[in-house]
Amino acid sequence: MSETEQTLSIIKPDAVERNLDEKIKLIFKENGFKIIKEKKIQLEKSEAEQFYKVHETKPFYNDLCNYLSSGPIVVMIIEKIGAVAENRRLMGATDPKKAEEGTIRKQYGISIDKNSVHGSDSIENANTEIKFFFNS
Ligand code: CMP
Repeated sequence: MSETEQTLSIIKPDAVERNLDEKIKLIFKENGFKIIKEKKIQLEKSEAEQFYKVHETKPFYNDLCNYLSSGPIVVMIIEKIGAVAENRRLMGATDPKKAEEGTIRKQYGISIDKNSVHGSDSIENANTEIKFFFNS
């Protein structure tokens, strides 16, 4: 049996800009997640660079960091049994065009960059990403 886990979710600028944050939070709650902490913030580009450091060698890194710091985001610690995998399932594939029916990215994502949500991809990264935003 899986254990209760916490993971980090970000509602990205494209979704906040379209006022989708409350709708997306409701999807998490309807799918059994508890929102433990949340805040709406806007990152400096340098902070986005630090957050996405694992992608620093990728060709899309600069655009990705410009984008994440381009407007307000909502960052949340969400909790559920098996939260890391459950969140990734609920978000759907990174590219909304490839995301399954019923996933957040299928419903709201615009493109691989403007894909509405981010979620940690492992328990280890969830811990790192939660500390990044909520360790004050
Ligand atoms: P996210 O889950 O936030 O993690 C890194 C982000 O990079 C990803 O969502 C996408 O929005 C963005 N990205 C842009 N281009 C690519 C690509 N070719 N492959 C994977 N991620 C990409």
